[in-house]
Amino acid sequence: MTALTLSTSAAPGLRADAIVIGVAKGAKGPVVAPGAEAVDTAYDSRLAAVLETLGASGAEGELTKLPAPAGFKAPLVIAVGLGAEPDRDAEYEAEALRRAAGVAARALAGARKAAFALPVEDAAAVAAIGEGVLLGAYSFDTYKDNGANGAGTGKSVKAKNGRTPLAEGVLLGGKPRDAAHKAALARATTVAEELNRARDLVNTPPNDLTPAAFAAIAQGAAKEHGLKIQVLDDKALAKDGYGGILGVGGGSAATPRLVKLSYTHAEADKHLAFVGKGITYDSGGISLKPAGHNETMKCDMSGAAAVFAAVVAAARLGLPVNVTGWLALAENMPSGTAVRPGDVLRMYSGKTVEVLNTDAEGRLVLADALWAASAERPDAIVDVATLTGAMMLALGSRTFAVMGNDDAFRSAVHEAAEEVGEPAWPMPLPEHLRKGMESPTADIANMGERMGGGLVAGLFLREFVGEGITWAHLDIAGPAFNEGGAFGYTPKGGTGSAVRTLVRLAELTAEGDLG
Ligand code: BES
Ligand code: MN
Ligand code: ZN
Repeated sequence: MTALTLSTSAAPGLRADAIVIGVAKGAKGPVVAPGAEAVDTAYDSRLAAVLETLGASGAEGELTKLPAPAGFKAPLVIAVGLGAEPDRDAEYEAEALRRAAGVAARALAGARKAAFALPVEDAAAVAAIGEGVLLGAYSFDTYKDNGANGAGTGKSVKAKNGRTPLAEGVLLGGKPRDAAHKAALARATTVAEELNRARDLVNTPPNDLTPAAFAAIAQGAAKEHGLKIQVLDDKALAKDGYGGILGVGGGSAATPRLVKLSYTHAEADKHLAFVGKGITYDSGGISLKPAGHNETMKCDMSGAAAVFAAVVAAARLGLPVNVTGWLALAENMPSGTAVRPGDVLRMYSGKTVEVLNTDAEGRLVLADALWAASAERPDAIVDVATLTGAMMLALGSRTFAVMGNDDAFRSAVHEAAEEVGEPAWPMPLPEHLRKGMESPTADIANMGERMGGGLVAGLFLREFVGEGITWAHLDIAGPAFNEGGAFGYTPKGGTGSAVRTLVRLAELTAEGDLG
């Protein structure tokens, strides 16, 4: 991953491939953002006019390249749009900095070193720019180049397509000896590294990332970061009565797993549980998805990836809070041993579920994991899942839904998400939708009314949360996987949705500001 440093050096003397500056939308055209004064001076203070001539407006997502002024050691200046100029005395918003830094980092793929001369008012700006660079520079090339070019030679061949991520980023204006700046950069680096790891897991094809393979990766991370881990395989799941996970995983040759990953801190007095949907591939099962709906279904373990990344990040940050991550891992496939529409499963909680649609599998694996998490009586449970297409229809592809059994907690989760730059929106759990899941045969059916399908799924999950436990449910079906082009610091493919929100929730809990 890109290496980041803070530097008080002046832009002109810096040896780099490019200097990145900010340009904002002012009342009368583009304005050069603070941090780029030396560049502006070298352009005889005409930089805003030069940028306007080149067609720059300062709009978010915009990128303008211009040759560096004479005397600069770097050959290129890259101006990235920051959106509307903030009011007098107000600072640039963290998310505007994060996105602009991401846009620049994406354009700098293949470059060795870049300096970022963006507005750094405080440590929060250092963190935002750092995150933007590290997340924007991400690329997934495990299955590219090396294999093809090095085929048969036994040698690993370096990618030659110029798309290797930016190697080194220097944040100008960041103070290398300021404790707050240093801490902000260290936190940003840890969170971004783990978030990028979640993206790698999501992008890994499902023939390689089976439930067992995911569990093995979690075991490796647990060893590396001193976490306690327990992996239940299909035999152990059967012995303990995990009917939901076993039912969903029963159709696949790749058997299911339930992973429990525990981070504990000696001074912690709160305990958070995170539960992730980890369907390594969702074909729909016997209720098979039609072509056109299954090509991206390797993304259906994004919730588990987010939970995994967040627990490891909490450990690496040494947060004074206990965090348990539950990864409900299964592959949803049709076969002679697959669960059928009409089958009744006895869940880990003891409740019976009539499976009316095998494609509503996420709620089944989550139900067992939620019940297992509840047995430890944590202070709160947050589950994360690519659960319903309905929620994508409701909120689009960039915003996740927050539901829960406690309005104050749901609001706190929503606020935490917005604070870290993840678009989210609260959704209700209307009681009247419960009766649609009544089953003539079992305690509940795994399907209800079609209308409000995302809320129906939330109501189903609520039944498997232990009595009196505060719970929130994040439906990340929209933002987990970017099927469009890259934007800001978000690449195509796996996005790492919800990782930053979960880490923030762990921090807030550690600080005693939540629950
Ligand atoms: N994994 C899907 C939801 C999904 C859809 C995630 C698109 C990401 C993108 C989930 O398991 C599913 O198939 N849900 C069904 C539920 C229905 C059968 C009640 C859905 O949303 O159609
Ligand atoms: Mn499904
Ligand atoms: Zn699914």
